[in-house]
Amino acid sequence: MQTIDASIGAVRFPKPIPFGWFSAGRVGEIPSDLITADGEAGAVWSFRAVGRELVAWHDGEQYRIADAFCPHLGAHLGVGGRVDDGCLVCPFHEWTFDGSGANASIPFSDRTNAKAQLRMYPTSEIDGHLRFWYHPDPTVEPTWEIPTLIDDSMIPCGTAEWTVASYWQEMAENSIDMAHFVFIHGSPGLGEVVSATSEPTVNGSTSGRSAGPIRHVINKTVYETPKGLEDGELNVDMYGPGTSVTTFALFGTIKLLATTTPIDNGHCTIRMNFFHDGQELSAAIAPAFVKEVKRQFEQDIPIWENKRFVASPALASYEKPITEFRSWAAQFYA
Ligand code: FES
Ligand SMILES: [Fe+2]
Repeated sequence: MQTIDASIGAVRFPKPIPFGWFSAGRVGEIPSDLITADGEAGAVWSFRAVGRELVAWHDGEQYRIADAFCPHLGAHLGVGGRVDDGCLVCPFHEWTFDGSGANASIPFSDRTNAKAQLRMYPTSEIDGHLRFWYHPDPTVEPTWEIPTLIDDSMIPCGTAEWTVASYWQEMAENSIDMAHFVFIHGSPGLGEVVSATSEPTVNGSTSGRSAGPIRHVINKTVYETPKGLEDGELNVDMYGPGTSVTTFALFGTIKLLATTTPIDNGHCTIRMNFFHDGQELSAAIAPAFVKEVKRQFEQDIPIWENKRFVASPALASYEKPITEFRSWAAQFYA
């Protein structure tokens, strides 16, 4: 049997971790002890994402996310650290850091140290996710925001989560790779990308590298249904590299909110939340639908985990959307 050369791993996807808003997790799954029963700040939570060790805490008003290593002498703030009066307290020498990451106090000293600045990541809490902004350059503020994508009338109907040894761009390219739907997922016919636009527009252009971080793609796909073959429309809206909403309209409307969080340069965690529009038909088809999306995702995993990125691919005439997607995706690499 042919074995994969280890050196191939390093070049499977020769791009850095992209910048953007990424989910640290669903708010409901963040350890509950970050906020005490009386609403006070509580414990410190450690996690790994964007190739870094991170910590999160709640300062009484909002979640804060920071690098895990103390700028004093490098202790891990999530191992023995605590929150006191909204400030993160390092376990090693008990220097404290406020919600902006600034040093707030030093024991046995009436001065603080301006150099002891914790690297902070701007956070937001929308659609049930705690998101953080990551850019390799800590001085770059968020260049776009993610609006509320799921309104209150939508009814949750399923969740899923995987960590995959792949890269966000490789996985996101799936939605406009129409031929693979036939051969990997068993679609009865070749679908078509009807339109792909980006916003905000830049110099009047709605596509390509010059256009904005939000991308709207409309696909026409043939579905096999109990009533025979039906044309269905699939709207994929991407909000940078970390969040997408896919709206499936066939007999009812189902939305899939998916977040992709790079863990390191080789693994991503994907979290899916499904919703239907409350119509009887949508509610009825939702369970089978959720099952089918999960099945299709799992069919893609062996391809993603073993493929390598081909920078200059040989494409068929109907695969122009792949080239367009790639030029849009290029804007997220600093
Ligand atoms: S290492 Fe954090 S206070 Fe010293
Ligand atoms: Fe797929």
